Amino acid sequence: MVSSEVKIAPSILSADFARLGEQVAEVTTAGAHYIHIDVMDGHFVPPITIGAPVVEAIRPWTNLPLDVHLMVERPEIQLEQFARAGADIITVHAEVCPDLHRMVESMKGLGVRAGVSINPATPLAVVDEILPALDLVLLMTVNPGFAGQAFIEEVLDKIARLRQILDERGLACELEVDGGITAQTAPRAVGAGARVLVAGSAIFNSRESVKEAMDRLMASLRGLTG
Ligand code: DX5
Ligand code: ZN
Repeated sequence: MVSSEVKIAPSILSADFARLGEQVAEVTTAGAHYIHIDVMDGHFVPPITIGAPVVEAIRPWTNLPLDVHLMVERPEIQLEQFARAGADIITVHAEVCPDLHRMVESMKGLGVRAGVSINPATPLAVVDEILPALDLVLLMTVNPGFAGQAFIEEVLDKIARLRQILDERGLACELEVDGGITAQTAPRAVGAGARVLVAGSAIFNSRESVKEAMDRLMASLRGLTG
């Protein structure tokens, strides 16, 4: 593995919502690979964030894939509107999907890439049977709901176990991690096997420009081999 194979997915949750389009364009120019969009419904997690109209509004500001992370109950009733709004990848939480197989079929039927996420306390076993059908597994490295939380170290072992399963079975499914990713934790997550890094407050913050933050995160991965 070389660090050039790692993708960065800035989370717009920490962006300036008053100038969201410009911020999306800035991370695109700075070398992002996906735009990560955190959708929260006030039930699965406490905050309410954004819905499909915002996805539609930012679609013209970038050519990058829009990576929509649904932290909502009953995601099945949301899929179509996010697909129509321009989502390229939709990720649902296994914790709210008693019938993951049906959910994945629905996503594929809408022409989007299918992702499933699990929280830190949820075992990998819940996605094991469905891995061949998935385009992406998102391992939460914080408890979902808020930006700026500390990376949960215990998830490193889960990342490594999933990496091993994917490699052993020859599955192309992407392994994405989300929460607490910084220039310090990113190399460790990648070392354990993550290949897509979501980063919110490490990219959009008042300390540095988006370009400086992206450069710093990418520099932390330089030279990683394995
Ligand atoms: C948390 C969201 C994350 C969040 C990450 O529930 O899913 O995508 O924006 O923020 P940071 O990178 O600041 O932990
Ligand atoms: Zn997210």
